[in-house]
Amino acid sequence: MLTSNFQQPGPDTARFRAVLGHFPSGITAITSRDTRGEPVGMTVASFTSVSLTPPLVAFLPGKTSSTFPVIAERGTFCVNVLATDQERICRALSVSGGDKFAEVAWQPGPHGDPVIDGVVAWIDCGIEAVHDAGDHYIVIGRVNDLDADSTASPLLFFRSRYNHLVSA
Ligand SMILES: Cc1cc2nc3c(=O)[nH]c(=O)nc-3n(C[C@H](O)[C@H](O)[C@H](O)COP(=O)(O)O)c2cc1C
Repeated sequence: MLTSNFQQPGPDTARFRAVLGHFPSGITAITSRDTRGEPVGMTVASFTSVSLTPPLVAFLPGKTSSTFPVIAERGTFCVNVLATDQERICRALSVSGGDKFAEVAWQPGPHGDPVIDGVVAWIDCGIEAVHDAGDHYIVIGRVNDLDADSTASPLLFFRSRYNHLVSA
């Protein structure tokens, strides 16, 4: 792994957030199950594909997340790419604690992890590696199975606001 000794004070956190918020993204719900079999999940914008061979993806949970340790213990998760009309699910899964799935309809995927009804795509994964990265982890997932609804439109996040695709 490449490391660097290059260190500078860097920008303050408000400026960092504001400028990085100009990078648009989709929104995912990373889902899994706890040891009792109950669904768990968290809203995550930091999702990306990583490698084709082998098929790898990544997401970055914060170290203060109470859901990520549950996902890490299980060792499997499902990435749900949220659709335009799923802002309510996005908000429900971004709150720490409570019954996040009270009003979320889902079916078990190949590993048993929740595939939420109506998502644009789902990607079923096993955890391949977890890397340390400042106040977050970089979680590498090996893709086991996946599918997409090519007629559905994604929910987008840009400058701290929810957005929809507008066709040119
Ligand atoms: C649009 C959006 C994107 C988010 N992206 C991330 C992310 O990439 N990584 C992360 O750790 N938290 C992200 N969050 C915050 C988490 O959803 C939230 O802190 C977490 O789910 C809190 O619940 P937990 O304690 O059960 O993990 C995002 C929230 C929203 C609304």
